[in-house]
Amino acid sequence: MKITIIGAGYVGLTSGTCLAELGHHVTCIDMNEDRVARLRAGEVPIYEPGLQELMASNIQAGRLLFSADTVDGAADADAVFIAVGTPSLADGDIDLSFVQDAARGIARVIKPNCVVVVKSTVVVGTCKALREIIAEERGALDFSIASNPEFLREGTAVRDFLEPERVVFGSDDPRACAVLEQIYQPLADRGVTVMRTSNANAELIKYSANAFLALKIGFINDVANLCEQVGGDVSAVAAGIGLDTRIGSAFLSAGPGFGGSCFPKDTRAFAATGRKHDAPQGLIETLIEGNEARSRMLAERVLRELGSKANGATIAVLGLAFKANTDDIRDSPSLAIIPWLQKAGCRIKAHDPKAMTEAAKQLDDITFCDNAYDAARDADGVIVLTEWDEYRHLDLAKIAGTMRGALLADYRNLWLPSDMTDLDLTYLSIGRPTVSRASAAVQVAKPASRTVERAMTATSSA
Ligand code: UDX
Repeated sequence: MKITIIGAGYVGLTSGTCLAELGHHVTCIDMNEDRVARLRAGEVPIYEPGLQELMASNIQAGRLLFSADTVDGAADADAVFIAVGTPSLADGDIDLSFVQDAARGIARVIKPNCVVVVKSTVVVGTCKALREIIAEERGALDFSIASNPEFLREGTAVRDFLEPERVVFGSDDPRACAVLEQIYQPLADRGVTVMRTSNANAELIKYSANAFLALKIGFINDVANLCEQVGGDVSAVAAGIGLDTRIGSAFLSAGPGFGGSCFPKDTRAFAATGRKHDAPQGLIETLIEGNEARSRMLAERVLRELGSKANGATIAVLGLAFKANTDDIRDSPSLAIIPWLQKAGCRIKAHDPKAMTEAAKQLDDITFCDNAYDAARDADGVIVLTEWDEYRHLDLAKIAGTMRGALLADYRNLWLPSDMTDLDLTYLSIGRPTVSRASAAVQVAKPASRTVERAMTATSSA
């Protein structure tokens, strides 16, 4: 199949590369010529494990091309995937202008019988609207339109594409479904479930999936708040409920709240769609409020612990990315928590293995450090906001020894309260007992099952 992808951003690039890996001939089009030149040279503009190698091998095999010219790239394609951005508008709805522009751009060049596939995350009804845009531009052209949402997680996007739990596509046109079935046949041959449905259903599945996953996170964070008040342990509660296959153990890691380019934006768009169609999504509206309030709550927890020393305190923030294994800081809890601390007079030193360059563009007055130890030196408190693996192996005794204060706020539950027994630290974590510096030995509650707790701690957020 000849496939063209409009937009060589995170989704377009990963999807294009992986479709080439499945044996298709793919051209990724991006209007940024400089980006195209770098992509042609095999340079990957984002940090995504495994993508660079896969790109290189497919470029070499001649199956993956890049172009800045829509006419050149899309004219003989059997399918054109639109994978451009859909940023949030002020009212929570999404800005469809890039998707609409892309549709207009390809309308003039696609060949008859071409299938236009919407990969960008869009609200229900978008495919229908795009069909009208293309029809307006090209009159009698016979083409089909389909929705094929992506479920790629940053950090594991290549694996998520090539070994997915399911592929979903929807179209009201059987010809489009036949083309998409052919495109995904190599995955179906490997036993992957390929679900074919209507256009509207496919659009709804994408938002409903993300909203549901975000609900799980919001729910376990609420449970964590309760655990903190009543002496429970959220890791044990999550393990206990997750053993019920109707609930499942994934996405039950309590933490600083969900961030990233998808969940915050998609839940807002889902809620806005509900309002627009008189089908209010009350659960999601409440979830969004709770998630946004969480950053302030977690900053205040640290400030309360610092008490009168908060104004002028130095805080080391470990982790700026919205989750591990990415340099992405979009809607990261760090972008909300750090300003709350700064407003209270705290000075911030920060470290992140990958996201410091991006963070420097969005956060002011931060001292960036080469490693976690440098960040923690002379700090009054250390806050962990991203679950990077390298932080799990930090020498906490060394950190405690060089700090000025003694507060460790582990908002990713990287360690166990019982790990703190011999350390001179006050240890705050999420939904678990606080270990107070002065009386660590008496205040640490023994975990119900260390094995279970270890398993929950190790469960990556992905
Ligand atoms: C998500 C979806 O998982 C993916 O299917 C979709 O296509 C895009 O959005 P992504 O944003 O890359 O992917 O990250 P994900 O691993 O899902 O995490 C999202 C946020 O939730 C992160 O901030 C993460 O830290 C948080 N999270 C996740 C938790 O707090 N707890 C969990 O148990 C899981």
